[in-house]
Amino acid sequence: MKTIIPYGKQTVDENDIKSVVEALQSDYLTTGPKVKEFEEELAKKLNFKYVVAVSNGTAALHLASLVLLKKDDLVITTPNSFLSTSNSILYANAKPIFVDIEKNGLIDLKLVEEKLKKEKIKALYLVSFSGLQVDENKVKYLKEKYNVKILFDNAHFIGKDNGVCDIATYSFHPVKHITTFEGGAIATNNKEFYEKLLILRNHGMYKDNTMYPWEYKMIELGFNYRLPDVACAMGLSQLKKLDYFQKRRHEIAKRYHEKLDLEPLYEYNENSSYHLFVIKYPFKNLNEKAKFFEKMRKEGIFLQYHYIPIPSQPYYQNLGYNYSKEEFPQMDKYYLEAFSLPIYPTLSQEEQDYVISKIKEYLK
Ligand SMILES: Cc1ncc(COP(=O)(O)O)c(C=O)c1O
Repeated sequence: MKTIIPYGKQTVDENDIKSVVEALQSDYLTTGPKVKEFEEELAKKLNFKYVVAVSNGTAALHLASLVLLKKDDLVITTPNSFLSTSNSILYANAKPIFVDIEKNGLIDLKLVEEKLKKEKIKALYLVSFSGLQVDENKVKYLKEKYNVKILFDNAHFIGKDNGVCDIATYSFHPVKHITTFEGGAIATNNKEFYEKLLILRNHGMYKDNTMYPWEYKMIELGFNYRLPDVACAMGLSQLKKLDYFQKRRHEIAKRYHEKLDLEPLYEYNENSSYHLFVIKYPFKNLNEKAKFFEKMRKEGIFLQYHYIPIPSQPYYQNLGYNYSKEEFPQMDKYYLEAFSLPIYPTLSQEEQDYVISKIKEYLK
């Protein structure tokens, strides 16, 4: 077998194509009826009162940060995420504070509490890494005790919300659970946040034609972060298959657990959305890990690693952030050992078994 097996990819069928073509033939390419329909369907699936569809997950984080944060606010977040999570804190002129992770790849809430005791923190930006949400009871406790705002970066998670966060953000990039090509969403139960987000998504303006028919008013410094109608038509079609997509991801995760003898990120968890399936191997150093990736590539298997510790990035180093093994022992160990295996709905059992056999061959 020599087809390329990536770590993740979209599932697009004839119904998606039909929905997109219908949208293309309608009167609306940009903002039209599909946007509201998609937002309403998402709100039902995610158990939030309000959803605002935006052009990507980074835009979702940006607008959420403008609603939650003020200049110089301190925000605790994880080094184990895609850049957007902490970048969005910087977009709002606030300051990310990174806290080490646990073995399961999620931020360590015990260390978070130590920081909360010492400094006045405005918000916790908690990433549902790989598809697993941070312990809701502990988050609730911290939220109440330290009066912090909670944002869930749910780019890796999709499912019913547990009511703990103030805002959750989503991404519909093709490797995610559903896709709208590029795309994202912000979800909240707070009406004031919702109304502000709608305005920020559309240049900070709203239509006010009480005086003249053409009139609009700009009241915030907003952006064009609208998600087009055509993309929302795609999203509506994809949402119909979400349960099936999740069922497939869970079947694949279970099979990896059964057939692979390596240390998983966590034991099979029915609440995970399994955007990623991560396992660990005690590589001696990063070069050895890179060689393993290269060998697997030659076999057509494109493994991936998520994520390079954010504070170690040159931009963050220039801002004065430190990244050391001593400060982030778990993150450092994770960077050395972890890697992500292929997981997506169309990965066949034959392909998965091929991946498993090659991993066994190279990581004896
Ligand atoms: C955890 C996390 N947050 C945010 C994003 C940003 O989403 P997008 O690529 O849609 O901008 C991603 C995307 O990979 C992500 O994985």
